[in-house]
Amino acid sequence: MKNLTIGLFGFGVVGEGIYQVLQDKPGLNCQIKKICIKDISKRRNGPAAFFTDDASEILNDPEINVVVELINDATVAFQLVKKALQSGKSVVSANKKMIAENHSKLIRLQAQHKVSLLYEAAVCGSIPIIRNLEEYFDNDMLSQVSGIVNGSTNYILTKMASGQKSYAEALKEAQSSGFAESDPTLDVNGTDAVHKLSIIALHAFGKFVDHKQILSKGITALSAADFQFAKEKGLKIKLLANATTTKNGANEQHHAVFPTFVKAESTLSQVDNEYNGVLVGSSLADEQFLYGKGAGRFPTASAVLSDISALRYNYKYEFRKGTSTASKTDNLSFGTYYIGFDKDEKIDLLIFSKVHEQYSNGKRAYVIGDIKNEHLKKIDFWKKDSISIIAFGFNL
Ligand SMILES: NC(=O)c1ccc[n+]([C@@H]2O[C@H](COP(=O)([O-])OP(=O)(O)OC[C@H]3O[C@@H](n4cnc5c(N)ncnc54)[C@H](OP(=O)(O)O)[C@@H]3O)[C@@H](O)[C@H]2O)c1
Repeated sequence: MKNLTIGLFGFGVVGEGIYQVLQDKPGLNCQIKKICIKDISKRRNGPAAFFTDDASEILNDPEINVVVELINDATVAFQLVKKALQSGKSVVSANKKMIAENHSKLIRLQAQHKVSLLYEAAVCGSIPIIRNLEEYFDNDMLSQVSGIVNGSTNYILTKMASGQKSYAEALKEAQSSGFAESDPTLDVNGTDAVHKLSIIALHAFGKFVDHKQILSKGITALSAADFQFAKEKGLKIKLLANATTTKNGANEQHHAVFPTFVKAESTLSQVDNEYNGVLVGSSLADEQFLYGKGAGRFPTASAVLSDISALRYNYKYEFRKGTSTASKTDNLSFGTYYIGFDKDEKIDLLIFSKVHEQYSNGKRAYVIGDIKNEHLKKIDFWKKDSISIIAFGFNL
């Protein structure tokens, strides 16, 4: 078993968590040697000798063989991780934005320098989804990975569905309970889920998916009328990240993040508040479900710890399913969507290849119909904040 000497970047929610956890586990043969933070003047819960604001004290220290990157700046994080890999240090990171934006470059770097980059904590906190997709679901043909991968938005949707809270009130409560960041933009507009989905897609199907090409909308446009519709039909609204292969196999895929109607009795519908849940569909095993805490100090630290521990036996992602670029996405697939809007809004019904239902109550209106996903990419009226778009997570 390898002895690990760790340089830690970041001492915030997760960084301090992993520091505390490692202090309690001396038997792991992992010692933190240095901690680099941004503001050296802040008071820290740890001996002053650990702390520096000079990244080179970690990056240029030949004794440090593992960098644990837990900072909140994706641009700086990429530079730090790049230098660490180039210096022959393995890296553990929880930074989904940094990974999604630089995934192919990072994988090339780890291969070139024969080191390991692990990032289980970047996707669904404590849920071991990446390593499961890498190792366990290696041979069984996966057809779909579909999940609630963002705890803040799930918390807000749960509170809105109970009918007691508006979006603004639910967001405020999520922030005061520590389930949403003070700037929640990337969570509520769906970007955080898009980042996670692009990482999942590579490990599930062996295909790079450009996160900028993923169809998505967050939860900010959802109205009380949409929740009323869901309640009347026995449905719940969940923000789902979904990667599906079409009948033509892994080369043709649909990736999307949308508020989605799920049946009240479905598995994903039971995932409430800040929890995350991921359904993995495969040809032999049918459906598997992973559930747990997607964020927070210790749940996230548990995934970071698992990655650190795996480095003791030189574990690395092998990408046995490949690392090629998805050649066709969304070409053939159709989705069934609910589009909700104020009655004065003009919706072109020609976007639907089939309309299932239409309704207007003089104030708010909706249309439910099938839309070719490729077509959705070419139009953008549905991105407006006055229009809600909700996918159906089941066949109508
Ligand atoms: N919080 C969660 O539940 C959670 C869950 C999954 C993944 N993540 C990911 O984990 C990472 C850390 O999140 P967090 O919530 O722990 O963030 P956080 O509480 O905001 O802490 C960020 C830390 O990064 C340090 N930092 C910022 N810029 C730096 C720089 N240029 N050089 C060195 N240190 C720098 C800050 O230093 P100062 O202390 O001096 O300000 C702070 O200690 C992020 O990528 C986040 O997306 C978080």
